[in-house]
Amino acid sequence: MSVGVIGLGYVGLPLAVAFAEAGERVIAVDLDEAKVAMIQAGESYIEDVSSERLHALRSRIEATTQLEAVAETEAVLICVPTPLTPNREPDLVPLLDAARALGGVVRRGQLVILESTTYPGTTREQLVPLLEQRGLTVGDGLNVAFSPERVDPGRTDYTLRNTPKVVGGMTPQCTERAVALYTRICDHLVPVSNPEIAEMSKLLENIFRSVNIALVNELAILADRMELDIWEVIEAAATKPYGFMRFDPGPGMGGHCLPVDPFYLTWRAREFHMSTEFIELAGKINQQMPYYCVERIERALNDAEKPVKGSRIAMLGVSYKGGTGDTRESPALRIIEVLAQRGAVLSYHDQFVPALPEFGLQNSSLDQILDADVIVLVTAHPDIDYGAVVQSAQLFVDLRGKTRGLAVKDLVRL
Ligand SMILES: NC(=O)c1ccc[n+]([C@@H]2O[C@H](COP(=O)([O-])OP(=O)(O)OC[C@H]3O[C@@H](n4cnc5c(N)ncnc54)[C@H](O)[C@@H]3O)[C@@H](O)[C@H]2O)c1
Repeated sequence: MSVGVIGLGYVGLPLAVAFAEAGERVIAVDLDEAKVAMIQAGESYIEDVSSERLHALRSRIEATTQLEAVAETEAVLICVPTPLTPNREPDLVPLLDAARALGGVVRRGQLVILESTTYPGTTREQLVPLLEQRGLTVGDGLNVAFSPERVDPGRTDYTLRNTPKVVGGMTPQCTERAVALYTRICDHLVPVSNPEIAEMSKLLENIFRSVNIALVNELAILADRMELDIWEVIEAAATKPYGFMRFDPGPGMGGHCLPVDPFYLTWRAREFHMSTEFIELAGKINQQMPYYCVERIERALNDAEKPVKGSRIAMLGVSYKGGTGDTRESPALRIIEVLAQRGAVLSYHDQFVPALPEFGLQNSSLDQILDADVIVLVTAHPDIDYGAVVQSAQLFVDLRGKTRGLAVKDLVRL
């Protein structure tokens, strides 16, 4: 068995490694020459894959920038990005480029699976026609399925192996083949009737999170005005053994998924004369959170009789979530941008992010930021003693609820 993986990012590289560890030969393709060179050298650029693991698999993973190389494999997984255009519409260019190139080399008997998150209908309407360009057709020489990726970067309790995987093929045989493939790396497969169900299920998962995060963010703003501790409210509500699921407020959503994917469905819904109001409202509230957090920082400084202009403000954690160095859409970037416009002198500590070139900032050590006028906890990475940082800080703004239970003055919590 040999597997081709197109797109070697947060989704594609762990998949390539999983198949290689299961004993398969993997042809790993990316346009990015630097990534390909690193894989060839056994050096990982994704936190969830250690360089030791990658190094040990060098004989099984063949990394290349030449997509034609996947022609000799039995199955090809497409894991390219699905971003939004500047007008917040689906940008399928990376997917269509990969599909067009694959369509030029696809062979009879191959199974092609799309893993990138996208709107219902993409596999059937966009991918399949490009794969059929050389005369093969789905069901006759070609199998095609959609299987959404559920990887949660930085997470160790749920991995590719023990997270159920949804699979929807264009035909029952396509589903069957895709299930058989994933059985090598995944314990629980969830076959569904067609690709559209699988595409929509992934969007439902992400929209569910986006809407619930927005709800609790809105309540956090209200609790602030009412002078109630939102964290105590949430903890009390979470004691209900049924009918409640805990979500925590924070500085806003980041990463490739939550700020982006729901709008794929919003766009698609327009074709069906629907406006997806929950999605829009959740997006609006979550996008406002970094600005609200700036206001909380300003208020905290004001209480300490300091203006933002000229104050030394240090961010603690700038990636979009704990345990990863991914800064895509990170709310920390928006907070830094707004504070910089207002004249703050900024620095940051994040062991996963060596530099933020767009702001001319380099990672400072934790010790170096301790004398800032205010330290703002934006993203809580593991292995940091937040209690000790709070004790040493002049003023500490906690946007993640990590300091609950600490009775310290000069501490402000979202
Ligand atoms: N990151 C996550 O946590 C996550 C989770 C679930 C689903 N997804 C979805 O998976 C998809 C990929 O996300 P990601 O986070 O791995 O993205 P990523 O940006 O980390 O990786 C994508 C890779 O694809 C490469 N690429 C782009 N166009 C290409 C082409 N035409 N041919 C070959 N390579 C190409 C890029 O160079 C990049 O290395 C997206 O649709 C995303 O929504 C992501």
